[in-house]
Amino acid sequence: MTDSATTTTGFGYGKVILLGEHAVVYGQPAIAAGMQVGVRAHASAGAGSVRAPAWQLDLQVGDDSPVSTAVDRLCQQLGVAERSLDFWLEAEVPARAGLGSSAAMAVAIARAVAARTGAGEDDILAAAAAAESVFHKTPSGIDAAVASRGGVGRFDRAAGWQAIPVSRPIEICVGLSGQTRQTSDLVSAVAHLCQRTPVARRLIDALGELARAGMEALASGDIEALGHEFNMAHGVLSGLGVSTPELDALVRAARAAGALGAKLTGAGGGGAVIALAPGRTEEVLRRWRSLGCYGFLTVVGT
Ligand code: PMV
Repeated sequence: MTDSATTTTGFGYGKVILLGEHAVVYGQPAIAAGMQVGVRAHASAGAGSVRAPAWQLDLQVGDDSPVSTAVDRLCQQLGVAERSLDFWLEAEVPARAGLGSSAAMAVAIARAVAARTGAGEDDILAAAAAAESVFHKTPSGIDAAVASRGGVGRFDRAAGWQAIPVSRPIEICVGLSGQTRQTSDLVSAVAHLCQRTPVARRLIDALGELARAGMEALASGDIEALGHEFNMAHGVLSGLGVSTPELDALVRAARAAGALGAKLTGAGGGGAVIALAPGRTEEVLRRWRSLGCYGFLTVVGT
């Protein structure tokens, strides 16, 4: 236990899903990587305020907003009174862009609370999962796992997170479409498609296969193979209806700039794309800027 005057902090990693999004909901494996940027939470004795200036967020626990409900559940899970603390969040990832902002926030807050109560890793993950279920209804758990662990890893619902050794660090270009969306809406749309059109389930299995192939490519350092897998996964995700004209344009621009592969990352419907473009990263970012979209570089597997 910390004395109540102390401010405690916690960090949660923002993430990119390299391969296997949506398929992971159906028990297939996925590969995700923590970015250098994320969310840092500062907790101090207070009255239940939650502030994140970068997200224009300023609320009070109990106001019925999703963030308030999530913080409430998280505090309950960790056994602290939800209105006994104030949270100040430094958010370095955009919200609702497929970069794991809600899980990074949940993990950061859970760690800041755990630093006061002595709660352990399992409690932190359970609290983050409770918060995530407010935003994403029935999340696979991949976002909370990578937000808490960072690095590169394989996630599936049965085995959870397993770190993947990466032969050398990999530069990834991340491009933002500027369109926000709700993960749970996209997950529901894919579920409906699978019910109506059974062949969609085979596309889900194909995404799992691509994730397995991606693990081999990462282990052997075969970046070209990983690029092909990105391209194939984008095609399959488009087939499942989760891409948008804006995401397709970002993917095309990255390939035209010389990327080995590019795909949407996360749930789709907006949000972000990732591109693998050794030696061509500046050109990829420049082409995205010419489309009016912000992009940045992250290094995974450091
Ligand atoms: O919230 P996002 O955009 O990072 O998507 C999470 C990945 C999904 O597979 C689409 C959903 C899930 O719960 O795994």
